[in-house]
Amino acid sequence: MKKVRKAVIPVAGLGTRFLPATKAMPKEMLTVVDRPVVQYAVDEALEAGIEHIVFVTGRNKHVIEDYFDIQPELLDTLTRSGKHDQLASLQRLQLSAGTVSFTRQQSPHGLGHAVWCARDIIGDEPFALLLPDMVSFGKRGCLSGIMELYERTGGNVIAVEQCDPTETNKYGIVGKGRDVATGFAVTGMVEKPEPAVAPSNFYINGRYILQPEVFELLGTQERGAGNEIQLTDAMRRLSQVQDFHAHPYKGRTFDCGSKEGFIQANVAFALARSDIRDLVFGPIAEMISGQERRNEAA
Ligand code: G1P
Repeated sequence: MKKVRKAVIPVAGLGTRFLPATKAMPKEMLTVVDRPVVQYAVDEALEAGIEHIVFVTGRNKHVIEDYFDIQPELLDTLTRSGKHDQLASLQRLQLSAGTVSFTRQQSPHGLGHAVWCARDIIGDEPFALLLPDMVSFGKRGCLSGIMELYERTGGNVIAVEQCDPTETNKYGIVGKGRDVATGFAVTGMVEKPEPAVAPSNFYINGRYILQPEVFELLGTQERGAGNEIQLTDAMRRLSQVQDFHAHPYKGRTFDCGSKEGFIQANVAFALARSDIRDLVFGPIAEMISGQERRNEAA
């Protein structure tokens, strides 16, 4: 079984759900506490043993490339002013030269097309795919969990969670077959089905390990839901000839492409940080109880 060494992170999306914040700044650079959203996906990939990250970018996303580069002036200034903690934290995040690639999705034809744009850089090996809007929150990163299942099953493995059965039309949904190790065999996949025809409420949460044969299928994939080239449609074709398993993620995923998911992620990550929790939530608790008192008095 071939080792999964590379991960694709698509960052070409326009972020229209988050206007005006994303008018001049990529949505992947919005911060959850003190890190850009895209950093969470990179950290999760590195935790799972990924050695090379491929970003699929688009116009107006240069700042993401700059973010992952070294900034000599900044490092000099921090060194000269003795800010050793900040210096160390920047150095910890630095990806080494040659371990990051950037390629462009020239026009927005959908997630399937974005992934297809990485085909030459990935080559003939299995790869991980992380959708950075979906930020996982748990003891371990979601990708590590599907990597473990992949090491037992080979083939293709995706992470799933259960959604409200009335909301299947927001996601890719899989059918559940027999249990296998920490997951189950996938019996079907549909992109954004209406609840009445959804095969289950297990939704694809944005973490995948895929075999390179998916690229050939993506190259011939017709447009599907939303008139876009859908990855889910190519994966369904791939599942007819290769093993496909799903691993239910035990943590929780926040959709940081939506305002409510982004704010929930900020609250959850801030609550989990001992250096921030009391500073932030003490005053908030006071604000809420003050508001309640005012409501009672009114
Ligand atoms: C994409 C995938 C979908 C998946 C979702 C997770 O949809 O196509 O299968 O469930 O990400 O966020 P999008 O959110 O880009 O419409």
